[in-house]
Amino acid sequence: MINIAILGYGVVGGGITEVIDRNREKLSAFVGDDINVKKILDLRDFPDSPYGDRVVHDINEILNDDEITIVCETMGGVNPAFDFSLALMNKGKSMVTANKELVAKKGLELTECARENGVFYFFEPSVGGGIPEIRGMRTSLAGDTITEIDGILNGTTNYILTRMKREGVDFTSTLKDAQRLGYAEANPSADVDGLDAQRKIMILTAVATGYLVKENDVYCETMTKLTPADIDAAKRWGGAVKLLGSARITDEGCALYVAPFFVPESFPLSFVEDVYNAIRIVSPVTGDVMFYGRGAGRMPTAGAVVEDVASIASGLAAKEKRCEWKAAPEGYVKPFEENLFSYYVRVKNDSESEVLEAAELAFGKVEKLCGAPAGYVEFITDKIAEKDARIAIAGGAFGTVESVIRVH
Ligand code: HSE
Repeated sequence: MINIAILGYGVVGGGITEVIDRNREKLSAFVGDDINVKKILDLRDFPDSPYGDRVVHDINEILNDDEITIVCETMGGVNPAFDFSLALMNKGKSMVTANKELVAKKGLELTECARENGVFYFFEPSVGGGIPEIRGMRTSLAGDTITEIDGILNGTTNYILTRMKREGVDFTSTLKDAQRLGYAEANPSADVDGLDAQRKIMILTAVATGYLVKENDVYCETMTKLTPADIDAAKRWGGAVKLLGSARITDEGCALYVAPFFVPESFPLSFVEDVYNAIRIVSPVTGDVMFYGRGAGRMPTAGAVVEDVASIASGLAAKEKRCEWKAAPEGYVKPFEENLFSYYVRVKNDSESEVLEAAELAFGKVEKLCGAPAGYVEFITDKIAEKDARIAIAGGAFGTVESVIRVH
């Protein structure tokens, strides 16, 4: 019998017992033993749950239970999850976490603690919900060098952007639906302001490079300013607006950012809709690989937790190379202002010729986007450095700028 514990019996934590019950026979066959949820830590009681009698309110009940060998952390937040995780690994227990904030902020200490104790610290569910991209990167692509990552890493915002595109609605009303469906974070600012995607691209970059960067090093732009007019412009241009988390990795360092982008229909991420996430990985030998699936929600995320548990319990994990992350050296992440992008720009001005003439002086070559709303001119610039684009926009020589969105 493999005894496990769950910390936090909320949406995902509750899903873990459901997945184990549903797949019990298959899991036992894979692991070679039964998986038993022995204790569940939560502040609340669950008298109506079949697991109600296993709920404890004191972490020491799990810490001091030598029969428990694997602990699933689905509490969220840094503390007390961080202290609990260190204490549990110091007691020789492996951890599986869905907590991206914790992995992004404390991944160095946690992976080091796992190494010192000869246990595992696994975090597949922390990025991409039910998508097994972390294991794919760490095992299937282990012999290649990852040079590019582009991800739709947040289910809530992708759901909102899809509804805005299909129904022409604004984002506030759709956010409420995303919350009702259990996709959004407790504080949905983490979703819509890009912080959730920021943490996820930090984790993926650390898996790819071994360097965990600091949150402040990753440029992060909110999607709350996007309007139906932006979504419509992207459609006329021949694509969609997507919140991307991206990494461009070289031997010298990397560019890292999270922001809304115009993505063309020719780019596979443009077709990823609703709560689905996708992670496109590029490496020189393998070329493009795309992982796709449900990026949020109770069962997909709980399923990923159980897969990590099964990997540890079956002994498969013991064959994987341990994560040995280091802090990224100073200057590893290129200043965001130095990155080159094309930009979509919408300007409030009746005179098309005046705008386009002034825009070419400010940006270099630009291309008009047809079908702009009355009283507006829209154009797409050639690639220029972010810092130069900011100067051009601040100059305001072509009228009142209503919207600027980078083009992938
Ligand atoms: N709030 C997150 C999302 C949950 O919408 O993607 C999964 O990490």
